[in-house]
Amino acid sequence: MYSSVKTALYAVIIAFSSSYITYKLVSKNAEYKSLKDQVPKRKDNVAELIGNTPLVKIQSLSNETGCEIYAKLELANPGGSAKDRVALTVIRHFEETGELVPGRNDVLFEGTSGSTGISFAMLCNALGYTAHICLPDDTSNEKLQLLESYGAEIEKVKPASIVDPNQYVNAARKGALELQNDKSTEYNGVFADQFENDNNWRIHYATTGPEIWEQMNHDIDYFVTGSGTGGTIAGCSRYLKSVSDKIKVFLADPQGSGMFNRVKYGVMYDQVEKEGTRRRHQVDTLIEGIGLNRVTHNFFQGEHCIDDSIRVTDEEALKMARYLSANDGLFVGSSSSINAVAAVRIAQNAKPGSKIVMIACDSGSRHLSKFWKEALKVDKNIQLKDILEQ
Ligand SMILES: Cc1ncc(COP(=O)(O)O)c(C=O)c1O
Repeated sequence: MYSSVKTALYAVIIAFSSSYITYKLVSKNAEYKSLKDQVPKRKDNVAELIGNTPLVKIQSLSNETGCEIYAKLELANPGGSAKDRVALTVIRHFEETGELVPGRNDVLFEGTSGSTGISFAMLCNALGYTAHICLPDDTSNEKLQLLESYGAEIEKVKPASIVDPNQYVNAARKGALELQNDKSTEYNGVFADQFENDNNWRIHYATTGPEIWEQMNHDIDYFVTGSGTGGTIAGCSRYLKSVSDKIKVFLADPQGSGMFNRVKYGVMYDQVEKEGTRRRHQVDTLIEGIGLNRVTHNFFQGEHCIDDSIRVTDEEALKMARYLSANDGLFVGSSSSINAVAAVRIAQNAKPGSKIVMIACDSGSRHLSKFWKEALKVDKNIQLKDILEQ
C-alpha cells in the first residue's frame, strides 16, 4: 500500500516536472521566435550595414518643452555618420558607369572636412579602391587620425574660398583629372564631388526620409537639420513633403553661415562678410560639417521644401551638447547639437505635443579635441533655460 502511494507520488512529480520543462522549452522557443523577428539580419560586408539607423526620443528636451523631440541616429552608421549612405551610392554609381572597377587600383578623390572622407575611406577599403581625401588643415585631429587609421591618402590644404584653385574641393577635382589624364597608368581616378553629385540628395530621398516616416508611424509635424552639402535636408524634406503636407521643414544654421539669410530673405549673406572679422575662411564657427556661403546643387534640389531657418550660436551649441550628454547620455557632435537647439526653438512656438524630428549626424567622439574641449567647460548641471540666448 505504502509503495503504491509512493509510486503514484513519483508519477505525479515526474509528470509535473516534464510538463514544466516542456513549458519552459516552449516559452523559451517563443521568446527566441520573437527575438528572431527583432534582431538585424546577418550581413555579408560593411556596406550592407549602412542605413536603417535607430530613432530615439530625447526625453529631457521632450519633458521640458511639452513637445516630442526625436533624434534620427545617423551616427549609428558603421562609418559614424549619414555620409556612409552618400559614399556608398556614389561608389555604386561609378561602378555602374565602369569608372570604378574593384581591384584595379582605382582612386576615389574627395574634398571633405571629415565625415565624408571617413565614409569613403571605410568603403574604399571594403570594396577594393583607394581613397584620396583633400581637407582643410584645421580639421579636427580625431578625423585625421581616423583617416590615417583607415590608410587613406590625405592631402591637407589651407582653408580657402571655393574660388581658390587650392580649396579642398578643387584640389580633389584636380587630383582625379590628373590621374584620368595620366596615360602611364591603367587605373582611373574619379572625383566624388559630394556637393554637386546628384546621388547625394537622392539617397536621402530613397532611404533616410522613408525610414524616418516609418519610425514615426506616419506622424511628424517638424523636421529640422543643418546643411553642409545640403544632401540630407534636400532628400529628407523632399520625401517628407511628398508624403505629408503638414510637415514643416526648418534649416538649422551655425553662426557665420549665409544659409540662414538665404532661407529667410533669399540672399546668401552673413554679417561677418560686412565686418571683415572672419577668423576662418569658409564659415566662422566651431561647428564642423554644416554652414556654407554658396548654394550647392544638392541644397538647391530641396530649397523649395524648406519653410524656415533658425540661427544657432556656437555658445548655444556647446551648452546643448553638454546638456544632452548629462541628461540623456546622448554624446553628440557639433552639428547635431545645433539641430537640438533649433528643435527646442521650434518646440517653443509649436502646439504642445507636436512631434519634431532632428538628425543626430555624428558622435561627440569625432569632436573631442575641438568642440568638446570647449563644451567640457560648460557646467554639467546647466538648465535648458540657460542654453538659449535671448
Ligand atoms: C558632422 C556633419 N553633420 C552634418 C553634415 C551635413 O550633411 P549634408 O552634407 O547632407 O548637408 C555633415 C556634412 O558633411 C557633417 O559632416
